[in-house]
Order: sequence, then structure tokens, then C-alpha cells
Amino acid sequence: MFTIQDFIKKKKDGDKITMLTAYDYPFARIVDQAGIDAILVGDSLGMVVQGLDNTLPVTMDEMIYHTKMVSRAVTDAMVMGDMPFMSYQASISEAVKNAGRFIKEAGAAGVKLEGGAEIAPQIKAMLKSDIPVMAHIGLTPQSIHRMGGYKVQGKSEEAAKRLLEEAHIVEDAGAFSLLLEAIPMNVAKQITKELSIPTIGIGAGPYCDGQILVLHDVIGLFERFVPKFAKQYANLNKEALNAIQSYKKEVDDGKFPSKDHSFK
Ligand code: KIV
Repeated sequence: MFTIQDFIKKKKDGDKITMLTAYDYPFARIVDQAGIDAILVGDSLGMVVQGLDNTLPVTMDEMIYHTKMVSRAVTDAMVMGDMPFMSYQASISEAVKNAGRFIKEAGAAGVKLEGGAEIAPQIKAMLKSDIPVMAHIGLTPQSIHRMGGYKVQGKSEEAAKRLLEEAHIVEDAGAFSLLLEAIPMNVAKQITKELSIPTIGIGAGPYCDGQILVLHDVIGLFERFVPKFAKQYANLNKEALNAIQSYKKEVDDGKFPSKDHSFK
């Protein structure tokens, strides 16, 4: 089983950390079998599984439901739960209780929270309860209304400096790793160089200690849009459509079921 100690060791040894999201049993099994180090049950499930426009309506109960399915499927990868909007912002005790649900009810080994300095107290409190935390800065999708959309962050010198400060703050608060989303690659490079905890990039270039993508982007199962930073390695949408159309045609033509698929 991949652990937070392995995260740290990989950074020390200069080995890349591989992460993907997954949201259900069959895909989590495949991701685990592929040897991916850690699976994030991301609140991106609001968009790629539930068909929502953004992640904001996703609830704690929904995250627990999906994380349970993923934990059940996995033998080697570390499972992380993504804390949804308003599950950690209102109070520290609520944040700790909700983070604890991922560990106690859903079998996760850690949680991810969006934010920098503003979530430092939550990170510290979670650590006191032995809950490992990955912080997440740069483009934080739960802040779309403040950010005015899904925009690359840290482009100006001042914004880049602020990101670097935030990175140090979450490291000092005790985060075991830091996710960097949609920031210029040289800003990610500087953060990765300065921190002793590993950085995991999504749209943050090649210099991070590890990479994460949304599974449905990688396998071509989400066709509404593919972000510039995502690479599609397969087109399961097309494959599934072909299979289902073939099944329909064979039923329409009386070819399925054949005798091979029938009982005597
Ligand atoms: O919700 C999610 O899937 C994320 C991505 C950054 C991987 O947070």
C-alpha cells in the first residue's frame, strides 16, 4: 500500500509520483491495477459523473459514497478524499469531523483541501487528529466565483510571489504534499525546489514532483470539454458508443441473442 512516507521518499529519490482521480469501483480497480501511486476521489465527480456545471453543489455524503466504492476496489494505491465546498470553511471542528468521516467511514488515508493560508488552521487541527492533508493552491475550482472562472493563476510577479508564500504556509502548517493547479511551469518549478514536501501538478508543467489528471479526461469519457493541460490517451466515449450501437443493431436485426447466448 502506497503511504504518505512513500510520497516523501519519492521526492527525496527524485522519482515521480503518479496520481489520477477515480470515483467508482470498476475504474478504481483499473487505476490500481495500472500501478498508479495514489487515487484522489475528487469533487470533480460533480462535473464528470453527476453532470453538474461546477463542483460547488457536491455534498459530503456524496463524497463519502464514492470514496467507499473506490476504497473497496483498491489494494495498492493510496486513497485520498477531496473535501467538498463548505465542508471545511465554516468552522475548524466541522472541518476535522468531516475529514474524519473520509478516514473512518470511507477508508481514505488522507484528505485534500483547496486553499493556502486560510486553511492553515484546519490543516493543523486535522494533523492533531492524525489526518494527513494535501493542500491545493493555484486554480482552486471551489473559488470560481471569486476568480471569475477557470483561469490560470500566478501569472504576474506579485501573484507568483503570493503562491510561493502560500506554499510555505501550508508546508509549515503540516501538509504532507501540495497540489498545484493551472499555474505557470516556472512558478511550479520554484515552489517544488523550495518545498521539502512533494508537489503534485495539474496544468502546472513538468517540474512538479508528481502529476495528477482527471481520469475521465485521460480515457476520453468526458466530452463536454478537455482542458488544455489534459492529455487524452484513449477515447472510451467512442468505444462505448460503438459497442452500444452494435448491440442495438444486432437486437434490431434479430442477430442477438444467438444460440451461444441462450439456454437449452
Ligand atoms: O476534484 C478534482 O478532481 C481535483 C483535481 C485537481 C484533480 O481536485
